[in-house]
Amino acid sequence: MVTRRQFILSAAAMAAGPLTLGACSSVTLNENYKAAARRTWRHDESRIHDSSLLQRELVRYATLAPSSHNTQCWKFHIEEQAISVLPDLARQCPAVDPDDHHLFVSLGCATENLIQAARANGLKGEARFNATAAGGIKINLEPARADVSPLFQAIPERQCTRAEFDGKPLSTGELSLLEHSGTGDGVRVLFLTEKAALEQVLEYVVAGNTAQMNDPAFVEELETWIRFNGDEAIRTGDGLFSGTSENPSVPRWLGSLLFGMFFTKKNENDKYTRHIRSSAGIAIFFSESNDRARWVEVGRCYERFALQATTLGIRTAMLNQPVEVSALRPQFATFLGIGSNRPDLVVRFGRGPRMPQSLRRPVQSVLV
Ligand SMILES: Cc1cc2nc3c(=O)[nH]c(=O)nc-3n(C[C@H](O)[C@H](O)[C@H](O)COP(=O)(O)O)c2cc1C
Repeated sequence: MVTRRQFILSAAAMAAGPLTLGACSSVTLNENYKAAARRTWRHDESRIHDSSLLQRELVRYATLAPSSHNTQCWKFHIEEQAISVLPDLARQCPAVDPDDHHLFVSLGCATENLIQAARANGLKGEARFNATAAGGIKINLEPARADVSPLFQAIPERQCTRAEFDGKPLSTGELSLLEHSGTGDGVRVLFLTEKAALEQVLEYVVAGNTAQMNDPAFVEELETWIRFNGDEAIRTGDGLFSGTSENPSVPRWLGSLLFGMFFTKKNENDKYTRHIRSSAGIAIFFSESNDRARWVEVGRCYERFALQATTLGIRTAMLNQPVEVSALRPQFATFLGIGSNRPDLVVRFGRGPRMPQSLRRPVQSVLV
């Protein structure tokens, strides 16, 4: 179904057609984007024997992890038998993520991908958080029997799917597989599947979204990470491409104009209502301590959960407003009955369409 917002954006995109400079018709753009996405989201079928090439390949798999606003807030340092995942502080998002929680969760997601890819290539990865220095994660790599796990196989298929799902419940078997994958050291995952509970989460999402949209710094920061068309997304290799959220490509000047006009509390809250009501359930990741090492662990748990879901044909998407708005977080924890644990991530899941995948920067631009 085409929403009013999509209709207006589409109409604007058509109107803007001649202005998008002949060579860049939406069809050509689309093909360019598809080709870039194919280059990004792939397995390398050849067996790599050269250890430095293999380590670069492990870094490539790590970069396929999710990150808040697709900032790809990571850098990688390769040593002889280790790879460090380091925060890229130039890619912080102070408005949505003032304490760097999401940044370190994102590093955890990248760490998990790297360890899964290492195992598939005959290397056992042992991750240790370095609380001193820049606060990165050092992954020591030792030769081991190669194990090509279904989670590894799922890496190029995973995505955060910003679409309506089909509303059908998951089986208890599926839920227990997801729970197992999403649990870790001091990190647990709670499932809400009853309609009444989902409606209550929706209230928190709407309250959080409303607070964020009332904050000019949040809106401004978000806009800097939006890529309004495929060319922009290809050029930067990062950010939130409009096509991944069911929005058409428009030139940046028009995108900014339309963003100002149609990125409204009502439109966004209506979208979240449809998204939550069409989901099979919501998973809440929560942890027993509130520090960077644990946030990394949350990321590792979330990534295993998302990869496990992908193997089962289940889609996932985040709605983190209730945990991002610090004034809401304690109330949300009380509602969840998790005591003094920190609720870290809010993730809806269900079956739904595959959406265009986001892009990544090349390996050489994340190596230090
Ligand atoms: C810590 C973290 C927080 C995120 N929060 C949200 C969110 O609140 N809403 C959302 O739509 N996506 C959220 N995302 C998803 C990212 O936007 C997504 O991973 C990124 O755009 C790349 O897309 P991909 O995961 O499909 O490759 C979050 C991701 C991470 C790792």
